[in-house]
Order: sequence, then C-alpha cells, then structure tokens
Amino acid sequence: MNKQFVLNKQLKEEEIYKTIITQLENLINNNDALISTFSNFTAILKNAFDKISWVGFYFLKDNKLVLGPFQGKIACTEIELGKGVCGSSALKKETIIVEDVNKFPGHIACDGNSKSEIVIPLVKENKLYGVLDLDSYQYSAFNDVDKKNLEALCNFLLNKINVDNINKILA
Ligand code: SME
Repeated sequence: MNKQFVLNKQLKEEEIYKTIITQLENLINNNDALISTFSNFTAILKNAFDKISWVGFYFLKDNKLVLGPFQGKIACTEIELGKGVCGSSALKKETIIVEDVNKFPGHIACDGNSKSEIVIPLVKENKLYGVLDLDSYQYSAFNDVDKKNLEALCNFLLNKINVDNINKILA
C-alpha cells in the first residue's frame, strides 16, 4: 500500500487533525504488525506539527509504563504508575495538559529542553493499555483542541487494532 501523504501545514490545527484521521484510516491495515502501526502513528503526528519535539507511546507492563515506538530524542525506558506526567495520566486514566513542565511536581525530564506536554491515556472499556506522550520546546503548546483530537485519534487506533496483542510487543 502506498503510504505517502501530503499535508498542508498552513491549515488550522483542527483541519490538520481532520486530515490525520483520513491518513490513519488509510494507514491502519490489519496485515501490518502492531509495532509498525504504532510507529507510523507517531511519525504522522511528528510530521504534522512542528510544535512537537517528541511523541511516543508508553505501554503498561507489570504496573509500569514501558517505552514504545516514538519519534524524537532517546527517552526514559520505564516510568512508574503515578510518577511524572505520564504516570499520573495513566493512574488517573485522564488526559493531562502541562503548560510549563517546571511547574509540574515530579515531572520526568527526559529532554531538558522540553517546556510543555500533553499525555493521553490509552483506555478501552475502562482498561488501561498505556499512554501517548507529546512534548514541546514551546510553553503552553497544547490545548483543548489537541486534547479532543488526540483522544479521538487514540480511541480510533484502539478500536481498530487488537489491543490484546499489545502485550506481545513488550517481551
Ligand atoms: N515527560 C514525561 C516523561 C517522558 S519523556 O518526556 C519522553 C513525564 O514526566 O511523564
């Protein structure tokens, strides 16, 4: 399948998210390995928004979050539930927007240049599978438009894949 996609970055963010959904619909193909789908998902977002310095998945394994496919600099490989923004979002099963990471108690600084972030929990039928983490070098980079659309993208992804197979890529 041809996975090339042209994106007009001059569009408003809401419009960019709409084109991302179309891109995802074409991308998610049950013949692909799950790890390939997750990897391309992060690439779509990283390429769509210049404000993103890092985007990636952490998956739940043995009550910890384990680093999954991502785009950006190297990152912490394990985060305990309840720790940092990712661990807090996972524990609460709620999206967290942090406008200034220096003001978030316990923020885990994988990249000292990060200024703000948003973390979306991956939850299906009330079960936690991990989180999607997006960081930025700008303060207050993420807002309710990102929250609404990223939650929709994550739900779309979780409904398309077989979530029980996530465990198989975490050995
Ligand atoms: N920002 C995260 C840590 C992960 S890295 O930023 C990739 C946190 O405090 O949860």
